[in-house]
Amino acid sequence: MKHYLQFNDLSADEYTYLFERAALIKKKFKAYEKHHPLADRTLAMIFEKASTRTRVSFEAGMYQLGGSVVHLTTGDSQLGRAEPIEDSAKVISRMVDLVMIRTFEQTKIERFAADSRVPVINGLTNEYHPCQILADIFTFIEHRGSIQGKTVAWVGDGNNMANTWLQAAALLGFKVHVSTPRGYEVDEKLAAGAGGISASSYQFFSNPLEACRGADLVTTDVWTSMGYEAENEERKKAFADWCVDAEMMAAARPDALFMHCLPAHRGEEVQAEVIDGPQSVVWDEAENRMHVQKALMEYLLLGRIA
Ligand code: CP
Ligand code: NVA
Repeated sequence: MKHYLQFNDLSADEYTYLFERAALIKKKFKAYEKHHPLADRTLAMIFEKASTRTRVSFEAGMYQLGGSVVHLTTGDSQLGRAEPIEDSAKVISRMVDLVMIRTFEQTKIERFAADSRVPVINGLTNEYHPCQILADIFTFIEHRGSIQGKTVAWVGDGNNMANTWLQAAALLGFKVHVSTPRGYEVDEKLAAGAGGISASSYQFFSNPLEACRGADLVTTDVWTSMGYEAENEERKKAFADWCVDAEMMAAARPDALFMHCLPAHRGEEVQAEVIDGPQSVVWDEAENRMHVQKALMEYLLLGRIA
């Protein structure tokens, strides 16, 4: 049994399979072709933080695969009344086939997985967001072909998304230019997680414009992630120069793409002219969450389908 708790949990070879499979699954979806490999299977989705894309993509995706879903939140389950996570894992995993969790500390999802009888998927933690990077790389491949040898510019917080980009770069052979304000750098040990990040795939820039120079993809995220709301005002001041604008996009390659996992704040981490401009692929990126996660759920439950 495999869990998907961080990007490092799958190999480069498994990603090659998943990207091909996601493309096929997407094609079937667009053609209204029935694809029910997970008939009679149930996915439990546990949300301890808000979500739009993750909820809709997993829920719609699971129904499209012929399965069904149970939606739980901290507020409407015993998780919010301090039932131990291990007990919750033992109970929930006796009744469903797959669990997706969005929560705070990575240790929480690891503790759940340790006591789960079924595969567990990380739907975002403070440390990682592997399903999003899975969708982002799939989106890059759709528009530009292989990401191997390419350069991704990360402008903003050294957060869950940045950590996951670094894991992916080391695993799939591309480079990440990271620019964060002082005090918000990536924690390399945390980013490395179970598998490691490699020095050749990661370069730090104090100037965000320099990070974008020659990049094939420019990407950013909110200045204040969920769980850090108390720091919002302080962050607004620290991040003022880390706003992706037309000048940064002009420093990147002429065919560079722009991505943002969303939700976005125009005028903060990105200017409207960029996110709503011709280089932006954010809507494909959001839609692709569903296609890649369908491929992931199918893989975790059924393995490779020839
Ligand atoms: N990108 C993403 O995970 O969006 P949600 O917070 O809406 O799920
Ligand atoms: N870094 C953001 C991503 C939201 C999808 C957060 O954790 O809130």
